Amino acid sequence: MLFPDYRPRRLRQNENFRRMIRETRLSVDDLILPLFAAEGKGVKNAIPSMPGHYQLSADHIVKEVKVARDLGIPAVMLFGIPNKKDAMGTGAYAKNGIVQKTVKRIKDKVSDVVIITDVCLCEYTDHGHCGMVQGGIIANDATLELLARTALSHAQAGADMVAPSDMMDGRVAEIRETLDENGFENTPIMSYAAKYCSAFYYPFRQAAESAPQFGDRRTYQMDPPNSLEAIREVSMDVEEGADIIMVKPALPYLDIICRVREEVDLPVAAYNVSGEFAMIKAADKLGWLDGKKVMMECLMGIRRAGADMILTYFAKEAAKELSNG
Ligand code: PBG
Repeated sequence: MLFPDYRPRRLRQNENFRRMIRETRLSVDDLILPLFAAEGKGVKNAIPSMPGHYQLSADHIVKEVKVARDLGIPAVMLFGIPNKKDAMGTGAYAKNGIVQKTVKRIKDKVSDVVIITDVCLCEYTDHGHCGMVQGGIIANDATLELLARTALSHAQAGADMVAPSDMMDGRVAEIRETLDENGFENTPIMSYAAKYCSAFYYPFRQAAESAPQFGDRRTYQMDPPNSLEAIREVSMDVEEGADIIMVKPALPYLDIICRVREEVDLPVAAYNVSGEFAMIKAADKLGWLDGKKVMMECLMGIRRAGADMILTYFAKEAAKELSNG
C-alpha cells in the first residue's frame, strides 16, 4: 500500500485509535522489584547512585514488600548483603544467612508476593567473585555444589523461586537436581542465562558491596559482542531445566531479548539493571530529560523486544504510572 491510498496517520489521529492498534502492553503484572537485604534492625542506607533504593534490614524489607504487593507487583527479587565475607562465601548458604533470615521474615508477615532469591557467591566472598578461586582462577566445577547448597537453603527458608546469576557452566542442572532430591521439585528456577559482562552493573556493585577485588568477571560473564553464544547459553539452561530464561542487561541487549524470544518457548525475563536506572535518574535530576516518560518508553521497549517480565528498579514508579492510566 502506498500513499495516498494508505495513510498511516489515519489510525494515529486520536488516543482511542492509538489505544485500539497498540501492539505491546505494559502491565504491573510484568514487573519484578529488586531489593537489598541488610543485617540489623531499623537499617535504611541510601544507595546514592540509585535514588529511592536502600540497603534494608528485614523490618524495612517487610514493609517494602507490602508496598510492592499493594501496588500490584507480583514478585520481588532479594539480594543479600552479609556482615562478613570469606573465601568460600559461606554466608551464601548459611542456614541463618542474610537472605535465608529475610525470606523467613517476609514469609511470616506477607503473603501473595512471589519471593525470588538471587543465587550467587559474589556478595559473600572476600575476593568478590561469583565462584571459588583456585590458583587465581574462578573454579567452575568446585563452585557448582556451593551454588546448589545456596539455592537449597533459600528454598528451605521459603523462597518461591531461585535465580542463579553466577554464570558458571552447568549450575542450572546442579541446582535442579539438588532441589528435586530434597523435595523442592516445585520450586522454579529463573536462570540468568545470557548475562553479559557489563559496565552497567556499577551502581549495583556499590549497593551490594560485591565488586571483584582482583581482575574482572570476563572469564565467566558473556562477552558483549556475542549473540550466537547467547543462544547456546540459553539452550543449555533450557536443557538443564530452567523455567524462566533471563537476558541481562536489557537496554543495550534488546536484540538478544528479541532473538531469545524467537528461539525458546519458555517465559523470557529481562533485567533492566542498575546502570540503566542510574542514567535515567541522573539525566532527570539534571533536567536533561523527563525521567518518567523515558522510564515508560524504556520499559515498553523491553516488552516490545519480547520480554515477558522485567526486573527493574523502576517497578514501584512504573506501577504507579500504570495505575494513573
Ligand atoms: C550478582 C549480580 C549482579 C547483578 C545481579 N546479580 C552483579 C554482577 O554480576 O556483577 C547486577 C544487577 C544490576 O546491576 O542491577 N552476580
